[in-house]
Amino acid sequence: MDEVIMEKLPVSRWHKAIFHRISRRSFGPKDLQPEELSSLREFCQDFRPFSGVRAELCVGSSDKVFKGAIGSYGKITGAQALIAFIGNAKDPNVNEKIGYFGEGIILEVTARGFDTCWVGGYFNPGIVAGILGINKGERVYAVTPVGHALEEFSSQEKVMRRFIKAHKRVPMEELVNGIERDQWPRWVEGALEGARVSPSAHNNQPWEFNVSSERITISISKVRGKLKQFNRMDCGIALLHIQLGALNAGANGSYRFLNDPDVAVFNIESQHEPNN
Ligand SMILES: Cc1cc2nc3c(=O)[nH]c(=O)nc-3n(C[C@H](O)[C@H](O)[C@H](O)COP(=O)(O)O)c2cc1C
Repeated sequence: MDEVIMEKLPVSRWHKAIFHRISRRSFGPKDLQPEELSSLREFCQDFRPFSGVRAELCVGSSDKVFKGAIGSYGKITGAQALIAFIGNAKDPNVNEKIGYFGEGIILEVTARGFDTCWVGGYFNPGIVAGILGINKGERVYAVTPVGHALEEFSSQEKVMRRFIKAHKRVPMEELVNGIERDQWPRWVEGALEGARVSPSAHNNQPWEFNVSSERITISISKVRGKLKQFNRMDCGIALLHIQLGALNAGANGSYRFLNDPDVAVFNIESQHEPNN
């Protein structure tokens, strides 16, 4: 795996954002300010932890980009801007890279006080590619609207969240095998608490974790890995959450990508005083 410059991750800022991020689909009239947009654009250009994936901010009404889940139902509406996650389709790890890196962008946008929603299915990649002019061999894998959501959830959002059971997460004991929980080092608890609340397509939570005192291996669950297209992207998101949770609990480590059905292994390299 390409080297991730871990010291540069804003650990406590993004770790906090993990626990208050929530998908929003109905955006309100409050505009993003020009300086907010230019700073977001700069961040998208600067945050490049891997080769072969990049993010681009696209300003202007994004309604034509999004599709509904059933008719116009579940469609994202009213967002003034979007961020597109673009990757090199030939890269064998493109999905997990998009997940990890896209979630970094989403957590930063959340920490800045804006609303987001990962959208991998219900959008038109051709329209986005046309607006942004992507390179040969690249694909738009996912997008997120960016802006200020309505203060109250719209009735459409409420129905969509209920339908997907968006607030539910699989209990920890069903996700993990390996050493018993009462033997987990503190960093493992922190890493997996973060990973468990990761967003995933249809809230499928396709991950499972094998734990030892020095490493966590993340694999695709036979039971929950129902959406093949998104399994590795979802696990890439959980990888970033594992890393932020571990760093926040004082453990520094690195990843190596693995082959199906495994996704990656996170190995601890050093431990220091925790952030809290
Ligand atoms: C890779 C990925 C793709 C997603 N695609 C869509 C989508 O196409 N449309 C949509 O409305 N939500 C989409 N979502 C959002 C999920 O439905 C949402 O994250 C999940 O239900 C959990 O809810 P939460 O994000 O509020 O915690 C996607 C999420 C991920 C991670």
